[in-house]
Amino acid sequence: MNNSFTLAGVMGWPVTHSRSPLIHNHWIHQYKKNGAYGLFRVEPQHLESAIRGLSALGLAGCNITIPHKVSAMAYVDWVHPLANRIGAINTIVVQADGACHGFNNDGYGYIQSLLEAQPDWQADAGPIVMLGAGGAARAIAVSLLDAGAKEIRIVNRTFSKAEEFAHEFGPAISPVKWEEREDALNNAALLINTTSQGMHGQPALDLSLTQLPQHALVSDVVYIPIETPLLIQARLRGHTTVNGLGMLLHQARPAFEAWFGVMPDVDQALYDKVIQTI
Ligand code: ATR
Repeated sequence: MNNSFTLAGVMGWPVTHSRSPLIHNHWIHQYKKNGAYGLFRVEPQHLESAIRGLSALGLAGCNITIPHKVSAMAYVDWVHPLANRIGAINTIVVQADGACHGFNNDGYGYIQSLLEAQPDWQADAGPIVMLGAGGAARAIAVSLLDAGAKEIRIVNRTFSKAEEFAHEFGPAISPVKWEEREDALNNAALLINTTSQGMHGQPALDLSLTQLPQHALVSDVVYIPIETPLLIQARLRGHTTVNGLGMLLHQARPAFEAWFGVMPDVDQALYDKVIQTI
């Protein structure tokens, strides 16, 4: 394989909305790498052959996005234990022998976004309240548990899914009914919205923060708009807020490092570039 030009990209369907090319091509330019990052529109029935083709084409790897994050696990040669627990991959790295290894950096990206907003943040600072129990919630919860979280209250519209979380991830998870979401904020140190509520085109999250302690951090994985109604409410109450863009940018860093050999920084120029597309 000719190593002088490094190719990577993102597989999704649809995939045109992805900000990943903008992010990775920014870093390719910034770190003077010889390479490119493209969009691969891969329909579900072609996912296996697309993944098998990575090494044949000499690609360094790819990101995996909606709707392939779960199904792609079956088509790689090895899955990182963290990604196995999350139950999804978002990154494939082609090894020197052509094997495809799967990783999930979403939770890493989330935690880095918290640390960016509050460098002394600690996972065991107090109870964590997480709204939602879907794919993003899984990645974040597993990473928070690994970081030392002692109590995560999972509040979900469909209560049985919150119960499944507790069953799967153990006693640090307490399932909470959607109707009890405001009481769940009592003595919490961190609030995370992983539902689509507050996203452009969706109603705002129906949640009063009155019971949330003043020192609690408030975060949203939604990044369109950058400041969701939840984050506006939190900022007006004096909370430190973390928008969803940080997670998007930081999850990309370990993948770039694996493919291009440099752990890139998230700088203001990159933030500004991505914000211009929102
Ligand atoms: P993602 O992979 O982005 O996390 P997902 O797996 O579809 O997306 O999960 C979406 C989450 O948002 C779920 O927890 C969902 O709740 P249900 O399990 O009850 O479906 C939650 N969600 C979606 N619409 C919602 C709404 N109107 N009110 C409250 N929660 C909602």
